[in-house]
Amino acid sequence: MLAGQLDTLAREAARLKPLHLRDLLAEPGRFGRFSRRAGPLLLDFSRQKLDEPALQALGVIAEQCGWQQRRDAMFRGDLLNSSEQRPVLHTALRAADSSLPSPAPADVRAEIAHTLQRMGELVDALERDDAAAYGIPSGITDVVNLGIGGSDLGPRLAVEALAGYHSGRFRCHFLPNVDGHETAALMRRLDPRKTLVLLVSKSFTTQETLLNGAVLRQWIARAYEGDDARAAAHFVAVSANVAAAQGLGIPPERVLPMWDFVGGRYSVWSAAGLALALAIGMPNFRAFLRGAALMDDHFRSAGWRDNLPVLLALIGVWNRNGLGHAAHGVIPYLDALRELPAFLQQLEMESLGKRVSADGGELLQATVPVVWGSVGTNAQHAFFQALHQGSDVVPLDLIGAVRPGHALEHNHAALLANLLAQGAAFALGKTHAEALAEAAQGSAAGREALAAQRTFPGDRPSSTLLLDALTPESLGALIALYEHKVLVQALLWDINAFDQWGVELGKVLAKSILPVLGGAAVPDTFDASTRGLIAAIRALS
Ligand code: F6P
Repeated sequence: MLAGQLDTLAREAARLKPLHLRDLLAEPGRFGRFSRRAGPLLLDFSRQKLDEPALQALGVIAEQCGWQQRRDAMFRGDLLNSSEQRPVLHTALRAADSSLPSPAPADVRAEIAHTLQRMGELVDALERDDAAAYGIPSGITDVVNLGIGGSDLGPRLAVEALAGYHSGRFRCHFLPNVDGHETAALMRRLDPRKTLVLLVSKSFTTQETLLNGAVLRQWIARAYEGDDARAAAHFVAVSANVAAAQGLGIPPERVLPMWDFVGGRYSVWSAAGLALALAIGMPNFRAFLRGAALMDDHFRSAGWRDNLPVLLALIGVWNRNGLGHAAHGVIPYLDALRELPAFLQQLEMESLGKRVSADGGELLQATVPVVWGSVGTNAQHAFFQALHQGSDVVPLDLIGAVRPGHALEHNHAALLANLLAQGAAFALGKTHAEALAEAAQGSAAGREALAAQRTFPGDRPSSTLLLDALTPESLGALIALYEHKVLVQALLWDINAFDQWGVELGKVLAKSILPVLGGAAVPDTFDASTRGLIAAIRALS
């Protein structure tokens, strides 16, 4: 952002500082002016510490930055990922279900349609237990998704979120980490002859995925007296590195492509979502794409004031750069969305966790806050104490569904009551006088001390996102909403949101440490801590 734009935010923040959210929420018509709907999602941001002039100032900044041009450039397939010279076309994965004509290149759309069709045919064959044409044996009951980061978090989130839509035909398991405890536990639980392994890796170079792949391959081979060819028949690969996948003995008919124009953390809409398609069936997977397309259409057609992704982005920029909050909490009031905080951690922090601009210049402003969270109401009984009365303010997204997927109406009413109550408590707080009035007994000093501890400062902002119900469509819309929020924030912060150089250094160091743990000499170049820890590990191994 430009210095002048940051000055504007600072001025607006200073102007609003003396006002409490209690005052803002008391304004007539507040909810109507600070809430918007798009399809199955309602965004209430009336509990953000914003008023009309501050919102207007943020909108002006978005317009100055040319958010519409950036949005259109993405949908068109311009080279938005400048460091890797790649277009950013995850929206093309759901373009077939859009009501707006897609500006994505025709060859890209054709390739996507072809892959979706291949994916549908594979899912269909597996559901019928008749996948001999793919070389896959019959009797598959369990599917293991081997992938990490974007090759895990999106499919895992969606498979868990849409448990109510599972066909029951397959059990889906996720094995992202290289931690052998999980791998061993999974192998103990599953029958290798009935297991299908989905090797999902855009690069097909990821250590965790390839290592677990080799372990599971040997495990399956053991069930066939060491016959590796029969073990290979239990593997399907999803990758942009098709040659490497085929190099592992997985034939072309069992390799589904990903593409350089889809970032890993934006890939759940592609064949990387195969586990999801197997869990909920292809019609529901297409409904998930339709939900995302609906959000795409909204993003492409609404002005900034009514545009949910733009509003979420502006609220994020306001909280980070105007009010100076360094963390952002995601609290879904739905156990089914328990993986949403982890998914958004990657989406936002891997995309926006940068301190230089796309052309390498130091940025003037702070960028991505720490994104974290957990499900409500569990979180209320764990860390909400700090959010209500701790010294730092953490703006929150509180997310719920109006209609439950079950008939236990009292449970659902209690869940929603908690969601609404927490947003109100964060905003309104409890004054010292109110707390004192409650502390009826004891000495004056004792009452004062207790009242101080029972005072809630309030003035703590949150947005509420209400889904009509948690369905494939609304989940698709919700994920696409956050994807587009990231695009707009990246523009405002002058960041390339589609690379992730920050993950490379650790990978290189791990490669140099691995042989040492196997017994090789410790290089002098290792730092004192690494050398000391290696010695401690060796002493116990
Ligand atoms: O290390 C980070 C990362 O590259 C993520 O961006 C990506 O989602 C993940 O690793 C997995 O990568 P791949 O799909 O290539 O195995």
